[in-house]
Amino acid sequence: MRPAKFPLPPLLRATTFRMALSYLGIFTVSAMALLALVSWTTSVFIEWQIQETVEAEATGLSEQYRERGIAGLAEVIGGRASQDLERRAVYLLAAPEGARIAGNLFGWPAEVANEGGWMRFPIERFGEDRFGTEIMARLYVLPDGHRLLVGRSLHEAKRVKSAINRALGWGLAMTILLGIVGGYLTSRHMLQRVDSMSRTARRIVDGDMASRMKLSGTRDEFDQLAASFNDMMDEIERLVDSLRTVTDNIAHDLRTPLNRLRSRIDVALLSEPDAASLRRTLEETLAEADNLLATFNALLAISNAESGQRLHSFESLDPARLAEDVVELYAPLAEDKGIAVTCHADPGQIVAGDRHLLFQALANLVDNAVKYTPAGGQVAVTVAPVDGRTEVMVADSGPGIPAASYERVLDRFVRLDQTRSTPGNGLGLSLVRAVARLHGASLVLDDNAPGLKVRMTFPPAPSAPVSG
Ligand SMILES: Nc1ncnc2c1ncn2[C@@H]1O[C@H](COP(=O)(O)OP(=O)(O)O)[C@@H](O)[C@H]1O
Ligand SMILES: [Mg+2]
Repeated sequence: MRPAKFPLPPLLRATTFRMALSYLGIFTVSAMALLALVSWTTSVFIEWQIQETVEAEATGLSEQYRERGIAGLAEVIGGRASQDLERRAVYLLAAPEGARIAGNLFGWPAEVANEGGWMRFPIERFGEDRFGTEIMARLYVLPDGHRLLVGRSLHEAKRVKSAINRALGWGLAMTILLGIVGGYLTSRHMLQRVDSMSRTARRIVDGDMASRMKLSGTRDEFDQLAASFNDMMDEIERLVDSLRTVTDNIAHDLRTPLNRLRSRIDVALLSEPDAASLRRTLEETLAEADNLLATFNALLAISNAESGQRLHSFESLDPARLAEDVVELYAPLAEDKGIAVTCHADPGQIVAGDRHLLFQALANLVDNAVKYTPAGGQVAVTVAPVDGRTEVMVADSGPGIPAASYERVLDRFVRLDQTRSTPGNGLGLSLVRAVARLHGASLVLDDNAPGLKVRMTFPPAPSAPVSG
């Protein structure tokens, strides 16, 4: 199953492992730079100490020369040269023309520096181990022209430097080893968690919607990711469920009128109808079909509002004008029913919205108020600013809705038992809710004592020229 493009085992492909390796690389390079610096500083320091020693000894010897002359100096040097094998010191006292007088060097080294200059040269004498062949020395010319060479072996310096290098080298090797092992272990750990996550995701894809990611309880990034993923799955499950319920409801609620339509035609065909009753049947069928179409249109309007596509057609508008138009539209119907409709709309409020949908939502509210309020009742529509927001309210003096059903009546196809006998499809308030959500408005149902009071409160619109 592994893609051929990645022949590496999963662990080596793991991001964490590669990250660990690159950090290791950076660390190794800087550790090596540090090592080089330490080792260089050490050798500089040791050489400086050797030079100090050589100079101190040369000062002592020149005092001997001042006090006891060349013969005294030769004697001292002869003595030291024989004892100082331990200290790895070299001496050579020579006549002005170069002939050796005393010391443990038997000839001038090939690369003799000028007076006062430092030189390095190998000798055979102390060559007992791999550090012992180099000497650091300085040439002094005495006032009478005699030459004095004093030097020390670099043996000790090299030994120390080598020890330090060895220690640092081992440290570096250990670091690299630990880095690789650590990188391996952490990436294995991470990989296991990522693996378990992708297994869960796979199970969900394969249809087990209830599957959730396991949390380790450490509240680390993986746990946060898993928790977000689980929340997302909960939400998706909820949406899928509600979509299924809606679909079921729609299918169920459309079946009833379609069945009615069908049986009406059926009954008309069974009998031997005269032209008049055929006509009546056709008219009833037409009315039923119109109802069905109205239901479909309402469903489409709701899903249109819920999809949010209408956000593009938002404009700045004055809800007072909309309210007046709606009230005007329902005035004849209300008058026929003997219901008084009043409109108190403060003009000049601005709401950003979709004119068509807002009109439809407001019309649905007024429609309900007029429809469910018995004759002799009142319906009041008001538009007013409340705390910098625009409140649109439709209140009636009808039977109202029990507080326990405020949420439920907003769902699709929900009609309360007490009002079953009136025509309607139970979609009016669903559209109101969808339109309110689209506009970021709050929708509150309340007791008008008696009657129902529905308030839609719109957020302030960004200032723009008002139209309509
Ligand atoms: N103003 C109101 N007074 C009393 N009941 C109402 C009012 N508005 C809505 N309702 C109740 O809420 C239900 C849902 O309303 P709605 O979605 O507009 O559907 P419809 O009006 O088609 O029945 C109605 O069937 C009714 O029972
Ligand atoms: Mg209605």
